[in-house]
Amino acid sequence: MTESSTSSAVPFVPSPAAEPVDPTTTEAWDALESLDLERTGSLREMFAADPQRAERLSFEAADLHVDLSKNVITDRTVELLLQLAREVGVEDRRDAMLAGAHINTTEDRAVLHTALRRPEGASPALEVDGQQIDADVHETLRRVYEFADSVRSGEWTGVTGKRIETVVNIGIGGSDLGPVMIYEALKPLAQDGLTARFLSNIDPTDAYQTTRDLDPETTLVIVASKTFTTLETLTNARLVRDWLLAGLREGAGLTAEQESEAVAKHFVAVSTALDRVAEFGIDPENAFGFWNWVGGRYSVDSAIGTVLATVLGPDVFEELLAGFHAMDEHFATAPAASNVPLLMGLLNVWNVNFQEAETHAVLPYSQYLHRFPAYLQQLTMESNGKSVRWDGSLATTETGEVFWGEPGTNGQHAFYQLIHQGTRTIPADFIAFATPNHALRDGDQDVHELFLANFFAQTKALAFGKTAEEVRAEGTEGSLVPAREFSGDRPTTSIMAPQLTPSVLGQLIALYEHITFVQGAVWGINSFDQWGVELGKQLAKDLAGAVAGDEAAIAAEDSSTSALIRYYRAHREG
Ligand code: F6P
Repeated sequence: MTESSTSSAVPFVPSPAAEPVDPTTTEAWDALESLDLERTGSLREMFAADPQRAERLSFEAADLHVDLSKNVITDRTVELLLQLAREVGVEDRRDAMLAGAHINTTEDRAVLHTALRRPEGASPALEVDGQQIDADVHETLRRVYEFADSVRSGEWTGVTGKRIETVVNIGIGGSDLGPVMIYEALKPLAQDGLTARFLSNIDPTDAYQTTRDLDPETTLVIVASKTFTTLETLTNARLVRDWLLAGLREGAGLTAEQESEAVAKHFVAVSTALDRVAEFGIDPENAFGFWNWVGGRYSVDSAIGTVLATVLGPDVFEELLAGFHAMDEHFATAPAASNVPLLMGLLNVWNVNFQEAETHAVLPYSQYLHRFPAYLQQLTMESNGKSVRWDGSLATTETGEVFWGEPGTNGQHAFYQLIHQGTRTIPADFIAFATPNHALRDGDQDVHELFLANFFAQTKALAFGKTAEEVRAEGTEGSLVPAREFSGDRPTTSIMAPQLTPSVLGQLIALYEHITFVQGAVWGINSFDQWGVELGKQLAKDLAGAVAGDEAAIAAEDSSTSALIRYYRAHREG
């Protein structure tokens, strides 16, 4: 990027296309490798020898309290990881991102999701590539909130004059996972009489189930797609448009002349491609835009959140944005040694590259966060699942780990066995809140306390395990002893906050966005493109003829694919 294409308010923009520093050639990397071989003792020993360990390795970031002390690290590990970050230039790259440099090199784009949550009037104003970013962001928010308020107040009605009761968001990937996750997390804040549904899959079952029991007269559809070319979303939008118009014809006697009015009253869109929105038949007046400097998986705080602003309300959405921004400020300004996203990103690098971790569990002790791990899967794996670096050269070390998880305590009764006693290292983030959303009692027992006792117990068991002597002391003998032993030294991070509020949720999301960024920056990869999803999409289009029965096309396929298509054609009924 040239100087002239960014604001004069932004003085320092390192060249984003510069060759990444190979992390494995740094002094810190060498030292980390020998550290790993030396292993300074177990977590039991380290805690026993150092009563200040938890205090020293616990940090505050906005409202989050983050305890890193149950990771298998020493002060020296942290020191070397911070040195690694300096040697590869993580903070320079962060500053370049925040300033609007085109760090998304393969698409030649700025990466500015952080601008979506800058408060109105933030100074100096952000101008990038000739665009007044802050002004555009806040003008779009104003339009989204105006629309949301009109639906919430009942001023906006369906074509037959009935108040909207259900908002159906049609989108997939980043145009779905964030809105669903946040809606599920903050559901108690939805306006009475207004609910959201989410339609994403091209499996026709999804469209059927989503609309099956809805009244078209009281349904509003938001078609959310950054590109407005996505097969699933456009197909589902057409299916729902047909369902809606058929329902209105049948139930409310809608005439052919009233159809475009019906679409205008029941369909709005969110996209960066407003021309395609118009081609689809949605009035651009009823469309909310965003910009190509917002990646799909980083877009829930753009107009993609219109469903949230509508059902949960503009005030809730504003609180979410404020939470995101609080974490952005922390990431941008906290000193490296207490910068939580930086430390957590570096810890992930430690676990992946020096402890051979292949996966990372995220375990929220909050039922309302049940879609958080799924949301993080796209955020982290679409971002860092790469084998080439941002200059096109091959990655020099392992990159993105597999993220997965389920809420506790359900996961405890399913897969925790493997985390406790399996042969693999599975770093895990445990997330919990001091105040429950619903304080229930079982007789004298505060149920949230039972829940949190499990949260505390799990990280303790993983860190400190149970020795053979302890097992024997309980009366177990012989070959049963090893089966009941727990090695300990299984790395966990505990994240706590006072309560799951919209602001805290925004902070958590931004925390993981920045962790993802830090890992990508160390590995030298562009965390903001997603070419790996293109081949499958292209092949699905190319296979349409064969699937529909074109014999020559079937025969031209490889023997496995053609046999599978023939199986489908032989067994398809209806
Ligand atoms: O196929 C992957 C992807 O491009 C994601 O990155 C994106 O979030 C999703 O598809 C949906 O894309 P769109 O919002 O353009 O419909």
